[in-house]
Amino acid sequence: MSAGAESAVSRETATPPDSTDDSRERDFTHAPYEEISLADTPIGAAAQRASQVLHPGAATLPKPTQRRVFTVANQKGGVGKTTSTVNLAAALAVQGLTVLVVDLDPQGNASTALGIPHTSGTPSSYELLLGEVTAKEAIQQSPHSERLYCIPATIDLAGAEIELVSMVARENRLKNALSETALADVDADFILVDCPPSLGLLTVNALVAAKEVLIPIQCEYYALEGVGQLLRNIELVQAHLNPELHVSTVLLTMYDARTKLADQVADEVRNHFGDAVLRAVIPRSVKVSEAPGYGMTVLDYDPGSRGALSYLDAGRELAARGMTTTTQEQ
Ligand SMILES: Nc1ncnc2c1ncn2[C@@H]1O[C@H](COP(=O)(O)OP(=O)(O)O)[C@@H](O)[C@H]1O
Ligand SMILES: [Mg+2]
Repeated sequence: MSAGAESAVSRETATPPDSTDDSRERDFTHAPYEEISLADTPIGAAAQRASQVLHPGAATLPKPTQRRVFTVANQKGGVGKTTSTVNLAAALAVQGLTVLVVDLDPQGNASTALGIPHTSGTPSSYELLLGEVTAKEAIQQSPHSERLYCIPATIDLAGAEIELVSMVARENRLKNALSETALADVDADFILVDCPPSLGLLTVNALVAAKEVLIPIQCEYYALEGVGQLLRNIELVQAHLNPELHVSTVLLTMYDARTKLADQVADEVRNHFGDAVLRAVIPRSVKVSEAPGYGMTVLDYDPGSRGALSYLDAGRELAARGMTTTTQEQ
């Protein structure tokens, strides 16, 4: 594992002895706008960071020059797509940016985690894709943040894969529904689209609507299984439907510092994807998995936890990278 990844996986109470070294925490304060001085103990540092979460005025991320639209995709289920979508969204929102999450998974887990009602019949991504409601009509504000919005998914979306097949511009429906004019009322800096675990028309719609793909990869056996197929699909969409699409970000999730396997997977993923892999790594953490049960992100559920802090780090990195990319592209 690289030094960056190691330093990003250090916190929380049950931290193994090899990763509690405070100097590593210091290493990780890479963002120039983070002017806090960390306390001398990991617990002190965590308390300071938690306080920063609860008092967001302390750190504000720079707004991207253009709205950034991400598709969070990996056709494997259970790799952390939804968890990463909602927690990154919360991490960006708590640090001053406005974020819209579009839930494109009929399970509606992202909607649940953001505390958004999504019973059948609620204006949702389903009606949005079918053209029955506008984005404005489907958007709800998360009860946990005034800068966090969601277009929920209801179980009705389960039928959309089939219903979309016969529709005009079936691959472009989400993109059209999320146009600048449609979102004029929500000045979203980031849009994160949470995909179902498949490569069907819902995921294709997400890939057409976004410029960037974020692939969460679980640090477990067969981590890269199926990723080749995802990449081929991304290339196809790029060639035929959305030339700007690219894999900008890979996020390692459910990292367990006690296992060699996690390190091996992290190395393999870094070799494969290079700089696209965020230095921040999300640890396997009970708090992260408990939070959705309370209709919360881990940032609301336990802001000082290792999971919350790692998502904050990942959010910061995501925002900072966007600034670099934008500069390079110009
Ligand atoms: N960092 C983590 N630590 C512990 N459990 C996690 C973590 N990330 C995700 N999980 C749990 O793993 C399961 C799958 O995650 P999820 O985000 O729903 O995956 P996907 O959306 O890719 O299917 C969920 O039960 C979730 O709570
Ligand atoms: Mg999911």
